[in-house]
Amino acid sequence: MISKKIEEALNGQVNAEMYSAYLYLSMESYFRSLNLSGFAGWMRAQTQEEMMHAMKLYDFINEHGGRVTLKAIEGPPTKWESPLAVFEATYKHEQKVTGLINKLVDSAIEQKDQAANTFLQWFVKEQVEEESSVDKVVQKLKMADRNPQAMSTLDRELGQRALT
Ligand SMILES: [Fe+2]
Ligand SMILES: [Fe+2]
Repeated sequence: MISKKIEEALNGQVNAEMYSAYLYLSMESYFRSLNLSGFAGWMRAQTQEEMMHAMKLYDFINEHGGRVTLKAIEGPPTKWESPLAVFEATYKHEQKVTGLINKLVDSAIEQKDQAANTFLQWFVKEQVEEESSVDKVVQKLKMADRNPQAMSTLDRELGQRALT
């Protein structure tokens, strides 16, 4: 059984992951408006991953005697200055999520909830990967942002992700 405190914290994270999905879906729509279908596909894959994260938490809460209670998902931004601005915002967002996951781990440890702590370690690793993959795109965009040819190459490269 998870404690009420952990239940509440995990429910909060379900909402945060659903917001992430919503944010990346909004970014996909922005990229579609720019006809950057590779970037858009990358964001679609990212959206699906975030929904998977939410469901992983959802299942964990249920399997451990908790109750999932869904809350409103905040509306994401709908416009950005440039593809670079989108990925910079993505990086910032992932850093924020990493902070939330770390806090969850802290409270699992505080509550002596080993099951929750072990479960959350998957998210700790996932955040390291996410920050690093998003940072790579930021670095590439810094070089390509004003160069149409480099942008189209990068668009094709990012589009590969949707296929995997
Ligand atoms: Fe996530
Ligand atoms: Fe994420």
